[in-house]
Amino acid sequence: MLRSKRIGLRLVTVLLLSGSALGAAVAGLKAAPSVAPVEDARTAVGETPVAELHPARVALERNRIYDESNPDFSRLQRIDDATRHMKRDAVGFPDWMAALRSGAIAPRAGHSPAATMNVLDLDVTMKNTKEMPHVRFPHQSHTLWLDCSNCHPVPFIPKAGANPISMSEIFRGRYCGMCHDRVAFITFFSCDRCHSVPQGASLNQR
Ligand code: HEC
Ligand code: HEC
Ligand code: HEC
Repeated sequence: MLRSKRIGLRLVTVLLLSGSALGAAVAGLKAAPSVAPVEDARTAVGETPVAELHPARVALERNRIYDESNPDFSRLQRIDDATRHMKRDAVGFPDWMAALRSGAIAPRAGHSPAATMNVLDLDVTMKNTKEMPHVRFPHQSHTLWLDCSNCHPVPFIPKAGANPISMSEIFRGRYCGMCHDRVAFITFFSCDRCHSVPQGASLNQR
């Protein structure tokens, strides 16, 4: 049980970069006793020195989740190298939506080169937000790279207001939290990206 917990932790990180198959392979490797020290990836992020980063980014940079004594540690692709050419969001992470829209990345729609995405341009405004601004859920941003079946009927019944979403559920990894905090931007530091509609504003206003 202990072992699978450790593997689980590493899997989460590796998954972000390379998918579960490689993740499982890397997690299965054993650490070698003597390894030359590897260059510290945390001294700079892209071109930005750590001292100038958003506090959220600095906190995550300090959180060492890789096993640095693993001989293959130095062979892992560095996220900051891979994303150096991308715009950053307000928290200092790569802005994946901007990268997609600008063509900086061009993910394939499927195995076949002929596959296309089924893009839906429909915003749903969610108003059960207490004092917080309302949430605008943009179908367009999501269906540029996700299929309807990734969200319907699980985790979301496709009917406005039909899902009992709350922040505690999201932080537990349910609803929006199935992807946000995992492969999509971090919930805790980016309230305003979801809660983007001031209360009392018209539905069409962004
Ligand atoms: C990934 C999108 C997302 C992010 C980021 C996000 N929220 Fe939410 N939040 C929601 C959704 C969706 C609801 C439910 C709205 C509904 O059902 O009408 C919600 C509901 C809420 C509610 C009312 C319900 C409850 O759980 O109390 C509060 C308060 C709230 N959010 C605060 C925050 C704060 C504070 C942050 C930042 C720390 C934040 N949210 C970040 C999506 C988000
Ligand atoms: C990333 C997740 C996600 C994807 C992908 C997605 N949806 Fe949705 N959809 C939602 C959410 C969230 C709601 C709002 C649910 C709520 O208000 O409780 C919704 C609501 C809907 C609604 C109800 C709108 C209304 O006004 O009642 C329809 C219809 C719908 N989606 C169709 C689709 C179709 C068709 C696709 C694919 C082209 C799709 N959705 C892809 C998350 C998604
Ligand atoms: C199936 C996975 C998935 C679910 C579920 C999901 N999202 Fe996302 N969302 C993404 C991905 C992937 C992106 C793009 C990557 C990023 O911006 O980090 C994204 C981006 C966004 C953006 C930025 C859009 C833009 O154009 O800048 C908002 C806002 C957002 N999501 C809100 C929500 C809310 C609110 C919910 C829950 C009601 C939700 N998402 C549920 C995967 C998901």
